[in-house]
Amino acid sequence: MHPTEPSKAPFSFLTLKIAMTAPRHFLKLSDFSAAELQQVVDRAMALKALKRNLPRPFVGKTLAMIFTKNSTRTRVSFEAGMAKFGGHALFLHGDAMQLGRNEPIADTARVLARMVDAVMIRNDSQADQMELAAHSAVPVINGLSNQHHPCQLLADIQTWVEHRGPVAGKVAAWIGDGNNVCHSWIEAAKLLGFTLRIACPKGFEPDAALLAWAGDAVELMRGAAFAANGADIVVTDTWTSMGQEKEEARRIAAFAPFTVNAELMARAKPDAIFQHCLPAHRGEEVTAEVIDGPQSVVWDEAENRLWGQMALLEFLLA
Ligand code: CP
Ligand code: NVA
Repeated sequence: MHPTEPSKAPFSFLTLKIAMTAPRHFLKLSDFSAAELQQVVDRAMALKALKRNLPRPFVGKTLAMIFTKNSTRTRVSFEAGMAKFGGHALFLHGDAMQLGRNEPIADTARVLARMVDAVMIRNDSQADQMELAAHSAVPVINGLSNQHHPCQLLADIQTWVEHRGPVAGKVAAWIGDGNNVCHSWIEAAKLLGFTLRIACPKGFEPDAALLAWAGDAVELMRGAAFAANGADIVVTDTWTSMGQEKEEARRIAAFAPFTVNAELMARAKPDAIFQHCLPAHRGEEVTAEVIDGPQSVVWDEAENRLWGQMALLEFLLA
């Protein structure tokens, strides 16, 4: 069983009825099979190729976007994606909703599903997202939680494939925090058949149950140089995620040997690419030389948030 899966309730006719009518959700990458992920990534590339000749399948459809944390890429890509498809996206700040005054998540889910066609949520708690999805008659999409960032991986995989072809059998090096984005990279490695080497300081490892689930798809290493050796792609993320601001000084000290710089990139394959979900902190997790250099694909990666999520919405709402 996947570590973030709820324990199974006993079977009943009610569960059968819900199962027959339940929409698909995308709360973590492994909610989809490898074939489904491949289908979404392929479709994202096809939509990108169409660019100005896009279909408009979502006329009259609305996506509700709940944010309790900041965002640039996720908000803009979902909003622009819905507009391109002829639909509409609603930005809902968590604090401005009754949810911010303790209206139950389940009631929020029931009400939203009467008015909109899909819900995207960015918040802290994966459990709250699961609660929302459990009571939602429309698809729920994780736009980032403390545990996962699956939409990011749609873009990251697409970008990797666009630049270097199929990912199966390749080696990715994750340098830095074992955080939400790292967790989604772990799921991607397991599902898509590449090896993920993770180099992080002691005490900042990814979730142990998730590592166990991924088995030999993931290798945990202490040294950044070992992880980067001969890698096809080097990836990092901020050392201080949203909500961890009070830990910033401690984190900067602990992560100091984990900066992705030119010397580290030189250990990877000569044609290795560099990815970062952004926002980036030059001089911390990555040097300006690397992120603004020729191996960096971060702007393609950011753009692909748009195409990946349009393909995802099409898949979920079809
Ligand atoms: N990468 C990412 O999710 O960016 P935002 O926080 O700007 O949405
Ligand atoms: N790990 C980062 C990702 C931001 C897109 C955070 O959670 O803040």
